[in-house]
Amino acid sequence: MFDSGVGGLSVLSALVRRLPHEDFVYLGDTARLPYGSKPAAMVRGFAFELAAELVDRGVKAIVVACNSAATASLPDLASAAPVPVWGVVEPGVSAALAAHTGGPVGVLGTHRTIAAGSYQAHLAAAGIDAWARACPLFVPIVEEGVADGEIAELVARHYLADRPADLRTVILGCTHYPALVPTLRTVLGPAVALIDGANATAEVVADGLARLGLARPAAPAPGRVLQLVTGDLESYRHVAAILGGPAGDVLPLRLPLTPRKAWMARAGVAA
Ligand code: DGL
Repeated sequence: MFDSGVGGLSVLSALVRRLPHEDFVYLGDTARLPYGSKPAAMVRGFAFELAAELVDRGVKAIVVACNSAATASLPDLASAAPVPVWGVVEPGVSAALAAHTGGPVGVLGTHRTIAAGSYQAHLAAAGIDAWARACPLFVPIVEEGVADGEIAELVARHYLADRPADLRTVILGCTHYPALVPTLRTVLGPAVALIDGANATAEVVADGLARLGLARPAAPAPGRVLQLVTGDLESYRHVAAILGGPAGDVLPLRLPLTPRKAWMARAGVAA
């Protein structure tokens, strides 16, 4: 799995709960965060590079636990990679459709994700109006470990001030945003359903592994979780602990990453 930072830990936690016997390798690319404010081609390149790093480490499947990277690289990454690849957008949309009780659906995400328009397109296909809002300050707030407090609340009020009056469903279209749920709940009130696609993603991955014959049989001991981080280890550990990320080793991952692979070149990712 990979994300630009600690955000994907919300997805990792759901996967560890759903698939406790599997081993996980999580790449947090904190040295190059935020992805959501960078050009699509650059984020696509990061996604291919991190996927190649995971393939080199022998993973049997990849979860792009980052909406910005998923919208910039899928479905091309899934067609090119030598292992199955799953993203977070479709599971998030499914969870939103299951919870939808009428009216528009809000989509909160990074600039990258909102500009990609994937959530809006899926909702339009289901005949639902989207109210999409880029919230670029949310990611640094979560990475700073201040997701719960007055700074976060002020910023949330700013982004949500002009939301439609009949908004009752809001997709958290960035894997960092589940950390802001208490704040968003304060600003939006108890009647608005906040949709975190992490559990739905874990279901998709569990079904996919089973279908492809890749699931690890149940074992008495839980699987291992290894977290590899391109930026500062101490701040990562600090924020991961605040967010309740899974236990396991946290080690450095040095940039630049592995040489580019032929399957990346075939997908048109520049060397
Ligand atoms: N957590 C990521 C996402 O889901 C990326 C945030 C960022 O680096 O801007 O979009």
